Amino acid sequence: MTATMDVPAMMSFDLSEDHQMVKDMVKKLADEEIAPRAAHYDETREFPWENCKKLAELGLMGVTVPEEYGGAGMDTLAYVTVIEELSRACASTGVVAAVQNSLATFPLLKFGTEELKKKYLPQLASGEKIGAYALTEPNAGSDAASLKTTCRLEGDHWVLDGQKNWITNSTAAEIYIVYATKDASLGHKGVCCFVVEKGWEGFTIGKHEETMGVRASGTCPLTFDGVKVPKENLVGEEGEGFKVAMATLDCGRIGIAAQAVGIAQRALDEALNYSNQREQFKRPISRFQLVQEMLVNMAVGVESARLMMQRAAVMRDRGRKFGKEASMAKLYASQVAVQNALDAIQIHGGYGYSKEYPVERLLRDAKITQIYEGTSEVQKLVIAKHLLA
Ligand code: CAA
Repeated sequence: MTATMDVPAMMSFDLSEDHQMVKDMVKKLADEEIAPRAAHYDETREFPWENCKKLAELGLMGVTVPEEYGGAGMDTLAYVTVIEELSRACASTGVVAAVQNSLATFPLLKFGTEELKKKYLPQLASGEKIGAYALTEPNAGSDAASLKTTCRLEGDHWVLDGQKNWITNSTAAEIYIVYATKDASLGHKGVCCFVVEKGWEGFTIGKHEETMGVRASGTCPLTFDGVKVPKENLVGEEGEGFKVAMATLDCGRIGIAAQAVGIAQRALDEALNYSNQREQFKRPISRFQLVQEMLVNMAVGVESARLMMQRAAVMRDRGRKFGKEASMAKLYASQVAVQNALDAIQIHGGYGYSKEYPVERLLRDAKITQIYEGTSEVQKLVIAKHLLA
């Protein structure tokens, strides 16, 4: 090896100037405006409209959407950088932005017709309308291919009947990516994907769910009762919907890994701050090695999780296969988020268990990262499939 050998870009471990600019911009917004509102949104469960407005002004509701469709035209690394910084301040805002930026836009970008892209992407990327992704059903969670919502072609439109559950953004969303089957006996080969708009006859949004964490994420069930969807709103080919859903989740899972990294970083920041201030036995508790051990483990976890998450993002940006790495990043980062939140509470002692400090919210928010966009068990299935392929 010579001293002049190039370091491969992926090994430099520094963000480029452009990515760093994005990080600094979102960090400023997150610290100054989003973090101070987080407890309010957690308490009231109001949709974080004010935050969304700010994100829209900065072009962060369509980070990876090409400029020709009204987006910022940036890459996945920029997108995960945004989601990490937002989630550090407010995990509800993090997931709202993640769904808008990936789950709602990706199916259109990758599989939509030019007409669908032109019609819906500018509305989503500008933040004029909120998007949602409706795959899960009361009896089809991890086994997504067993969904029961049906679609049948009648002349120039499809008719949708069925129910969806746990659909993030639904108290605000106006554009829904919906999965239904034309014939359940075909299994995943029967699944079709559609764009459905709020207000169409027969489409109702149910009660706002009272969730443990990400309480302002507008999560509701949906009902489709003979909803007529124009033929041209089919995304991808007939029967290609499961592939659309899975490819979308590959990308979405990097976003949830980023959300988990943001929560884990916040837990570390809060623990460092508190342990330096809190004195017991005549010294700050950060001077005690048992506390230091927790701080060190938290720091190692968050650094490792961030590297895994960024690597998956860069692999996607380079056009490489990244499904295994996305699942690994989500699996690991969500584990770190939960553990860091638990350790932050432990370091805060009784104060950590009260709503006076934000660390109890971090634990409630962290837990969902092990559940949505595929549970940790599903991530293990995906990783095992790749390993054994
Ligand atoms: N990309 C493209 N195609 C894919 C794919 C991918 N990543 N993964 C699988 N496929 C294709 C396969 O190639 C296969 O197609 P062929 O038959 O043509 O070869 C087909 O899909 C079926 O694949 P599997 O046999 O692997 O499918 P499975 O039924 O065994 O399911 C699973 C696998 C990984 C468990 C999948 O069902 C899954 O991911 N489940 C979890 C669902 C999930 O994540 N839900 C989250 C809901 S959204 C959400 O949470 C949003 C929110 O609130 C924020």
